[in-house]
Amino acid sequence: MNETPRRSTTAERLEELRSRENAAVTEAGASAIKKQHARGKKTARERIEELLDSGSFVETDRFVRHQSHNFGLEKKRIDGDGIVTGYGTIDGRQVCVYSQDFTVLGGSLGEAHGKKIQKIQDLALSTGVPIIGILDGGGARIQEGVASLATFAGIFRRNTRASGVIPQISLIMGPAAGGAVYSPALTDIIVMVEKSSHMFITGPDVIKTVTGENVGFEELGGARTHSSTSGVAHYMASDESDALDYVRDLLSYLPANTLTEAPVYPDEADLEPTPEDRALDRLIPDSPNQPYDMQSVIEAILDDEFLELHGNFAKNVVVGFGRVEGHSVGIVANQPSQLAGTLDIDASEKAARFVRLCDSYNVPVLTLVDVPGFLPGTDQEYGGIIRRGAKLLYAYAEATVPLVTVITRKAYGGAYIVMGSKELGADVNLAWPTAQIAVMGAQGAVNILHRKELKAATEAGKDAEALRAQFQAEYEETFANPYVAAERGLLDGVIQPHETREAITRALRALRTKRDALPTKKHGNIPL
Ligand code: HXC
Repeated sequence: MNETPRRSTTAERLEELRSRENAAVTEAGASAIKKQHARGKKTARERIEELLDSGSFVETDRFVRHQSHNFGLEKKRIDGDGIVTGYGTIDGRQVCVYSQDFTVLGGSLGEAHGKKIQKIQDLALSTGVPIIGILDGGGARIQEGVASLATFAGIFRRNTRASGVIPQISLIMGPAAGGAVYSPALTDIIVMVEKSSHMFITGPDVIKTVTGENVGFEELGGARTHSSTSGVAHYMASDESDALDYVRDLLSYLPANTLTEAPVYPDEADLEPTPEDRALDRLIPDSPNQPYDMQSVIEAILDDEFLELHGNFAKNVVVGFGRVEGHSVGIVANQPSQLAGTLDIDASEKAARFVRLCDSYNVPVLTLVDVPGFLPGTDQEYGGIIRRGAKLLYAYAEATVPLVTVITRKAYGGAYIVMGSKELGADVNLAWPTAQIAVMGAQGAVNILHRKELKAATEAGKDAEALRAQFQAEYEETFANPYVAAERGLLDGVIQPHETREAITRALRALRTKRDALPTKKHGNIPL
């Protein structure tokens, strides 16, 4: 430990500081660092160095140590207490950061460690800048008991109070066990690293004891599980550098706080249709049951990159950030190539959370619609599709950011309403000539509307199928188009697919000065 002897001259005191700083930084020791590297993991400081602009990091609380004497902890009073905190810049923009050091007491969270997190959370909130937490620890420090638990509570309260005010991002780069998972869960975005990060409330041993289930760390709480099955993680990075890059990228689409706008990279669009725009004229298959990839529409609209969130979870809806003329935009799109683009519980929650993320941080939402309805089935009904699907309705209806919606093909029933429809509050609603807006598809509608005639035809030995086809054709003639909605002003325009990028660009330009506010309230009561 760095118990440097006291000195009395000024030069000696300056030297003492240098030596204390040096000791604090190298405290982890070569063997612990080697162990960390052997697991494909960087150290707490290496992660910060890579995340922030070079040389911008200013460390806080480097000399903090715990005051605990239980279970031999008094012999493990390490400078920094197993966490590095501070501030710096990413792409020149100010951020706060903390990074747990697994090599010190397993990155466990004791009182001093947790208070350091709280201090940097307070700084981030009071200065209105994003905060990035890098987690790699064993959760509550067992030797510190309730002091550790109470400190967790203070972190959760700060996470919650900062929610919707400053972007909060969690990078899980090792274990996040027990209640410790709830700080990330309260933040906006969780990024995990394939194979080296794990999140769970109760670990494999406890599960085995209580339920008899055999499950390994990776299957239970690895990055793959959380990015594809549970939806806890928004992104599974292939390694730590990929995770850090993703976070830097993500922040470029978000403002520092809810009172400001995301950075703009001015780039006036050339609105002449490109070959990629023209290809949209051939995208929609003639058969309504044939899928296509909505990503081609997204790619044609955006300036360049599409940063997808939750790419492996609930793939029937696609969400992510991009830019139009250099301005951030959030995309919510049905994906006809997955579950025919139906909305189910997972897709509804995924999209709802994303719309609220955009709305919190003043990012306009562009919605691309091709949805045959909510997914039918007892799984969905028993799972609570009513209350959970309602989240998406709620998210769109409360959003005050610019909302632009384009219907490419199907927009049926409740799912039409949910997906950024006019009366729900969208500002500009457009449709392609291939749009079909109705309560349901032709087959379902005919079965209900003409049940008696079809039954009678069958009983009379007539060609019921020919009759059914005739009824379906009549229905399609009436509703399988965008013009019924356009007549009522529920669409602002019907456009050729190749005009989509131009129409969206112009709509977003027009909406840049949009101002809207919710009625005064304490907070809404979103169905949870
Ligand atoms: C104190 C801990 C610790 C903890 C790990 N260590 N977790 N010390 N409190 N919670 C120490 C170990 O004793 C060890 O110290 C060092 O960190 C490295 O741990 P290992 O077990 O050797 O590492 P590894 O095999 O990689 O396993 C990592 C692990 C495991 C999966 C995180 O340590 C583990 O399961 N820890 C307990 C996790 C847990 O149940 N935490 C409490 C959750 S409840 P030495 O000195 O030997 O190197 C909770 C409540 C939150 O967090 C409250 C909010 C509501």
